[in-house]
Amino acid sequence: MTTTASLPLRCWAEIDLAALERNLKLIRASLPPHIRYVAVVKADAYGHGLPHTAARLMHAGADLFAVANLAEAMTIRELSADWPILLLGATLPEEARYLAEYDLAATVSDLPEVARLNAIGQTAGKPIAVHLKIDTGMGRLGVWHEQAQALYAAIRAAPGLQLTGVFTHFASADDNPEFTALQRRLFLAALQSFPDLDPASLFLHADNSAGLETTPGEGSLFNAVRVGLLQFGVLPHPHSLLARVHTEPVFSFHTRVGLVKSLPRGTSISYGRTYQLRTDARVAVLTAGYADGLARACSNRGAVLIRGQRCPILGRVCMDQSIVDLTTVTDEIVSGEPVVLVGKQGAAEIALGEFSAWAGTIPWETLTSVTKRVTRIYKTPLGV
Ligand SMILES: Cc1ncc(COP(=O)(O)O)c(C=O)c1O
Repeated sequence: MTTTASLPLRCWAEIDLAALERNLKLIRASLPPHIRYVAVVKADAYGHGLPHTAARLMHAGADLFAVANLAEAMTIRELSADWPILLLGATLPEEARYLAEYDLAATVSDLPEVARLNAIGQTAGKPIAVHLKIDTGMGRLGVWHEQAQALYAAIRAAPGLQLTGVFTHFASADDNPEFTALQRRLFLAALQSFPDLDPASLFLHADNSAGLETTPGEGSLFNAVRVGLLQFGVLPHPHSLLARVHTEPVFSFHTRVGLVKSLPRGTSISYGRTYQLRTDARVAVLTAGYADGLARACSNRGAVLIRGQRCPILGRVCMDQSIVDLTTVTDEIVSGEPVVLVGKQGAAEIALGEFSAWAGTIPWETLTSVTKRVTRIYKTPLGV
């Protein structure tokens, strides 16, 4: 019997696992050798697919995985019984018992969490690993830096807990170096106030991708980085100093031409009639829409690549289809023609950053908005 997996593809993402591995190695090589690599793979590894991505990052030598929630952690546990995993999100009271069962490290921000997790660790007869999070200006998780010493003392006094890391998160590493520097100072000051801190036994981390631009070198207390976007070959902002690291895009986004047709001047295109043809035109109806992750905000703004040429999106992107102008493409195009939404085709490229700007969003959101309907094709599995 035919399965849906064997059907021809209408909209798909290609995930280049060899590029992912090269990216991790390049990022590592750009950092001092003692810095450990925390791979941030939350949200299905930024939409790349968690099992394949985590397996390849294990092969590439990631030291620790950071995920948002238990379900993601359990997916990694299926790949490895003992690879260290940190839950970045708050642990709900009824989730806490799974920390012991799946050997996961939790993020702790306050005394009630310390008490709850301590009780779980004591019942399990094995301490729960925790990373103490310090809020230095993000205003999200973490104990406010002025109260961090008291929380540190409570963790150290809890027999059911083992402190395995301390971290903070930057609010504006991509556009505010002064505030980032202040956050670093507040974090280091908090660490220095902790009695009996043993940096060698702890992950001490702050840097997300943008933070890497200003990671301190040898001699700093920081000994780990937490990398998400950059390992997927996407810069956190267009003028990033990280461009010198030369990571390669891991993700590309593809669809096909469903129908080619000619329409007379003056015809309005798609819902709401937001575009009228100024000349007689040849258009292609593509087999992807906003239900795949081609944002509706790209209506009348974005473009796609067909035969290496940019074809503007005409009118509104629909749920499952979109319409592009083929007028400048001189080759004959017929149903089935491959179309690139994000990525390279010949010498032409639509970068994820450009696509995200058309959609009025950021690459993080674009990647995590590619929907379940879109098949992920894994290129270059191990050994290639
Ligand atoms: C706590 C935390 N650390 C690290 C990251 C990774 O950030 P980036 O993808 O910018 O590298 C994120 C991403 O949102 C995060 O929430």
